[in-house]
Amino acid sequence: MRYTLNINGKSILAERGETLVDAALMGKILIPHDCATGHCETCRVNVPYGSVDTAGTAYGNTVLACRSRVVGDATITFETAPELQKVVGKVHSIAELSDKVVEVCVQIAAPLHYRPGQYAKVQFAGFPAREYSFAAKMDQEDSDELVVFQVKKLRQGRVSTALGDRIKVGHRVRLQGPFGNAFLRDAETGPLVLASSGTGFAPIWSLSKALVKSRHRRNLTIVTGLNSPADMYMLPAFRWLADHGEKNVTIVSREMASGLIRKGTPDQHLPDLDQTTSVHVAGNPNLVERVKQKALAVNAHCYADPFTPSQNRMSLWDRLPVWPFS
Ligand code: FES
Repeated sequence: MRYTLNINGKSILAERGETLVDAALMGKILIPHDCATGHCETCRVNVPYGSVDTAGTAYGNTVLACRSRVVGDATITFETAPELQKVVGKVHSIAELSDKVVEVCVQIAAPLHYRPGQYAKVQFAGFPAREYSFAAKMDQEDSDELVVFQVKKLRQGRVSTALGDRIKVGHRVRLQGPFGNAFLRDAETGPLVLASSGTGFAPIWSLSKALVKSRHRRNLTIVTGLNSPADMYMLPAFRWLADHGEKNVTIVSREMASGLIRKGTPDQHLPDLDQTTSVHVAGNPNLVERVKQKALAVNAHCYADPFTPSQNRMSLWDRLPVWPFS
């Protein structure tokens, strides 16, 4: 049986039971996707009209297009992001932001277009690929020739422990991206809440810096969670935001309150949300889930990629040899 899907204004016929991604491809429409297994959130789309079999992926009126299947006529919309690209580059700088977080700048051989809030797959030559959110420079202006990542140092991290050691300035890098669905929507104009914990601050910083540079008129609130006050590596970012008129920043720590830092977790310090609010959240998966549920309860829009990009641990796969770039 065939049904009509209207995808971003273009109507196509689709077979019952096809995934939305496959149906769209048959109609020569590319819904951005990556894992195709329901994990990465890159393929999340809106279904404002009609019905689809959501396969348990519904959040508000959004679904994952790689899992959801055609069961009737439906309208599907999604905001476009830059197409997938592959570029090579080399490490331009490695700087310790704290004893737990390293800023890595990669000089790229060709422009890599992405939207703040998205992430890339990054492979240092001789090491397994990792997923890191695009960040922004902490203390300088950004450059189109550089992409910036904030990497959490893990005691057993095969990549993070090599940064500054076996991976030095000049090390070759491959990048693939952009991925992810948690980027700013141009059409949204309501209040914006950006919440993070740990190195989930990387995409939040990228989003907030881009927003400020766009001379926005939105009501921006940033809530940043730390494990302990000693983890506040993002102070230069907060200074930059304050210098540009963004003072609605709350810093919280589970451990204790001190000075500017309030006690608690970011979800406990969110402002009032309503259906006009957009929330972006990144970091600890439990925090992401709690914030998503709070947003869902009042029909606020919530965008989150379901992982902490720079916290990948060594897997069995990682223990296998990795060939250097040719
Ligand atoms: S492509 Fe659908 S969740 Fe990854």
